[in-house]
Amino acid sequence: MANIVSVYKNSSKREYVLTDKERDNYRQTSQDSRLAKSSAQLGLLESLHEINTPRLNPCALMPQIEGNKLRCLSLFSGGGGLDLGFDRAGYEHVASYELIPICKETLSSNRPQWNVFGGPDSGDVTKVDWTLYKGQVDVIHGGPPCQPFSIAGEQKGADDERNMWGEFIRAVNTIKPQAFVAENVLGILNPKFEQFVKVNILDKLKDYSVVKFEMNSSDYGVPQIRRRVFFVGFRGSKDFNKFEIPKPTHRWSPYDGLPKQGTISLFDSILGRTMGVREALGLADTKFDNLAPTIRSAFTGKRNTTSVLNSAAGQKTWGDMGVWPNGVQSNRQSASNFPAKHNHFRMSVQDVALLQGFPENWKFSGAVYQVLGQIGNSVSPPVAYQVAKNVAKALM
Ligand SMILES: C[S@@+](CC[C@H](N)C(=O)[O-])C[C@H]1O[C@@H](n2cnc3c(N)ncnc32)[C@H](O)[C@@H]1O
Repeated sequence: MANIVSVYKNSSKREYVLTDKERDNYRQTSQDSRLAKSSAQLGLLESLHEINTPRLNPCALMPQIEGNKLRCLSLFSGGGGLDLGFDRAGYEHVASYELIPICKETLSSNRPQWNVFGGPDSGDVTKVDWTLYKGQVDVIHGGPPCQPFSIAGEQKGADDERNMWGEFIRAVNTIKPQAFVAENVLGILNPKFEQFVKVNILDKLKDYSVVKFEMNSSDYGVPQIRRRVFFVGFRGSKDFNKFEIPKPTHRWSPYDGLPKQGTISLFDSILGRTMGVREALGLADTKFDNLAPTIRSAFTGKRNTTSVLNSAAGQKTWGDMGVWPNGVQSNRQSASNFPAKHNHFRMSVQDVALLQGFPENWKFSGAVYQVLGQIGNSVSPPVAYQVAKNVAKALM
């Protein structure tokens, strides 16, 4: 792989300068890839892997709970990670608000009975008069855009125009639900944002007692390392005191055959086992499996990407597993028809969704890059489910 020399022209614009040799290499790689793709489309390549049948069923990680009569409102809904987790935890859906139109299509096609407001006219939370929802909502949930606090987004915090915490808080303070749940990237816990969190979040939520904590998707049966922060607030102090931060339900350990009697550790008998990527996707046992590195958010950074790769370290992990993190295909048939380098397994969007904890029956609308954007931006539904369940317990 060619080295890229990156030159900062100014703080907001990055320009790449390539040598002639590097440029030629890139040209060759993209030409090879185009050739391979068109041969695959014409059926000229022998399929190297069978169409996989996944072993992981994310619905089993979030068994449907009977209606709990709590009504939830979703802000910044994206492709519906939090929405689905709350749905499976038994909440009644009041409405979802989301700026990107394709996300509205995803939500509406999966749940035609939901009230989904999408697009710049009706889905933009900055334009909503929340007084309409007074007395109609028990819990507000949302993941305000994380770019202001993520390294990829340059961590500009309050100075980033994408900072939407103020809007989330405006909705909470106007509607005054019994509780709220907000999710964000780990970056928000960076000491440089301590003042931001105090002044712009906690101090503004005067009527709420708030707890913040971290969750990792792999602790809840999802085959991915994905660490996220949750802020959960309650209006009533009794409810707040009843709330329990979700405890891990699963633990990652490689599969090495069925456990022999008497060899199950105390830990494993209490916690379920999180599958690795190969096992979850139903691939052959190569004696090496692992958790997926954090799947990137494809709506940020390089546009229209069909890669889920987040870092150089991630590239090694995917490679060791024999799974190709680039050129994700729209379905399993096309993935099987388009062999990846080194005979690695090429993923479809359904595979990536599964590694994020979405069940097969949750269908994403849009082109591959848009689907990956929705998946990479989402809260793993089984994680959302655990938070939603414990909030409901506290409010009962
Ligand atoms: C981190 S994602 C949320 C993902 C979602 N919570 C899930 O679990 O799938 C943030 C979302 O906020 C949306 N967004 C940004 N600004 C918005 C605005 N002004 N109104 C509504 N949605 C907005 C983005 O389009 C993006 O989909």
